[in-house]
Amino acid sequence: MIIILNNKCNFTKEEFLIYQQKLSTITTSHELVLCPSYPHFSLFSLSNCVLGSQNVATNGMGPYTGEISAEQLKSYDIKYALVGHSERRKKETPKEMLEKIQQLCKVGIIPIFCLGEEVKENQQRELEKDLLFLDNYLTSKEKEQLILAYEPVWAIGSGKFTNKEHIESASSTIKKYFPNNKILYGGSINQENISILKQCSTIAGFLIGGLSLEIENLKKLLENLEN
Ligand code: PGA
Repeated sequence: MIIILNNKCNFTKEEFLIYQQKLSTITTSHELVLCPSYPHFSLFSLSNCVLGSQNVATNGMGPYTGEISAEQLKSYDIKYALVGHSERRKKETPKEMLEKIQQLCKVGIIPIFCLGEEVKENQQRELEKDLLFLDNYLTSKEKEQLILAYEPVWAIGSGKFTNKEHIESASSTIKKYFPNNKILYGGSINQENISILKQCSTIAGFLIGGLSLEIENLKKLLENLEN
């Protein structure tokens, strides 16, 4: 499985070095993907994780102050990048999200597109809006490279846990448009609810936010995943 550790906007340089040291003690058969803040890329020295990015620019290299392009990420051996995370969506138009996916595909970074409903009852309608958009505007080659991360907005950072049936129904909606792509789940995952989540047969991995910062609990989560 793919386990994304989304550190979000956390850790000073010193704190990151301590965190990385603790993270280096983890052994797992799953693929760990660390998504730290940009400045920490150059400090990365782990052999048990690969690097992911929390974001990417819509543009290539050039006069774009403050932006980080896909080519630059590629030069730091970034394997995956998140696009459309709910914490960024208010600042992004659908066209910009599309451009980010296109930039990533051009350089061979795997885009992880995050989608999920704001209101639990509107799951299908809200998911279909995004899925139709992707289906209409991405080329078939770009579609092939995409990973979809189902993250109900109401479950992110809220401690609210969804159930297996709700995740499976999101997966079947996603599969209507992207039958062959990997689907991840994210939203308030912890060392206990992972035992239920791992029973979702359509889910190929998890996106972990808050708990990625707590090494001891992360270790317990990975142990629960193995057993
Ligand atoms: P959370 O974050 O685990 O803290 O809910 C998940 C995410 O933002 O992807």
